[in-house]
Amino acid sequence: MQPRHFTSLLDLSSAELRALIHRAIALKQHRDPDYQPLKGKVLAMIFEKSSTRTRISFEAGMAQFGGTALFLSPRDTQLGRGEPLEDSARVISSMVDCIMLRTHKHETVTTFAQYSRVPVINGLTDLKHPCQLLADMQTYFEQRGDIAGKTVTWIGDGNNMCHSYINAARQFDFQLHIACPFDYRPNQAIVDAAGQRVAFFESPELAAAGADLVVTDVWASMGQEEEQKHREVAFRDFQVNADVMAAAHADALFMHCLPAHRGEEVSAEVIDGPQSVVFQEAENRLHAQKALLEFLIGR
Ligand code: CP
Ligand code: NVA
Repeated sequence: MQPRHFTSLLDLSSAELRALIHRAIALKQHRDPDYQPLKGKVLAMIFEKSSTRTRISFEAGMAQFGGTALFLSPRDTQLGRGEPLEDSARVISSMVDCIMLRTHKHETVTTFAQYSRVPVINGLTDLKHPCQLLADMQTYFEQRGDIAGKTVTWIGDGNNMCHSYINAARQFDFQLHIACPFDYRPNQAIVDAAGQRVAFFESPELAAAGADLVVTDVWASMGQEEEQKHREVAFRDFQVNADVMAAAHADALFMHCLPAHRGEEVSAEVIDGPQSVVFQEAENRLHAQKALLEFLIGR
C-alpha cells in the first residue's frame, strides 16, 4: 500500500484536515504521558535550512509519543555530497517510519515522497509550509471557532507561507485577501487553482477591511538574505501596524509564523499587542504535528 504523505495541504481532504485540527486541540487539552502511540517509531528529520520551531516541535512530539527523532544535516550525510535523492529516499525509508524534510526546492520533497516507502512530511520548502498552517488553523479554531466563511488577510511577500494560506483557503473554506508588492505576487498556478477564494488589493488597509485574521511573514525568507536591502524598499508600504489592524474587525487576530522582524513586516505594537496570538501559534506547532504524526504513522 502506498503511504500517505504531507507535502502540501492538498494531500489531505478537507475532512481529514479538519479532524486533525480537532485532534490537535484535544491532545493539547488532555495531555496523557501514558499515551504513546509512536512507541518504537523513528522519524528522520532532514534540515537543509535553519529551524527552531520545526525541529523542536517534531523532536519533542516524537519523544512525548514514545518515539525517536533523528536530526540529519546534509553536511553530515551523503545527501550533501550528491547521493541521488531517489537512492537516499529508498535507503532512509527502509530504516525509519517517517521522514520530514526542510529544503529549498519543493521537488526535493515530492521526489522523496515518490521513492519513499514511509510517509514524507514537508517541513518547509521555498514553495510551501503546510505544517505551519496546521498550527495556524488550530490557533484560530481555539480562539474563535471554525474559520469557514471568515476573511483572512495576507500582507507582504507572496512566499511559501502565502501559498499555504491560499491552499488553506480552499481546504478550510475561507476568503483570502492579499496585499503584496506587484513584483512579489504569489505563484499564479496556486492562485488560479483557488478560484474565487482569493482576491488581491492595492494596499494593506484595503486588504484588511473586514478581516477576522491578519497574517504576515518576513520580507526576505531563508535563502534570500542577499535581497534583504532591496526588499526593505520594495515592502516599505506593506507593514502590519496599528493602522492596518484598525481596518480589520475589532476582534481580529494577528498571526506570524516567526521568526519576526519588529519594525519591518510588523510593528512591535501589533506583534506584542492584545490581538497577537503568535506564541500560541508557535506552541501549536507541537500539538498539530503530534496529531499529524498520529494520523500518518500512529495506527
Ligand atoms: N515557523 C517556523 O517554521 O519556524 P522555524 O523556522 O523556527 O522552524
Ligand atoms: N517564509 C519564511 C518562513 C520561515 C518559517 C522562510 O521561508 O524563511
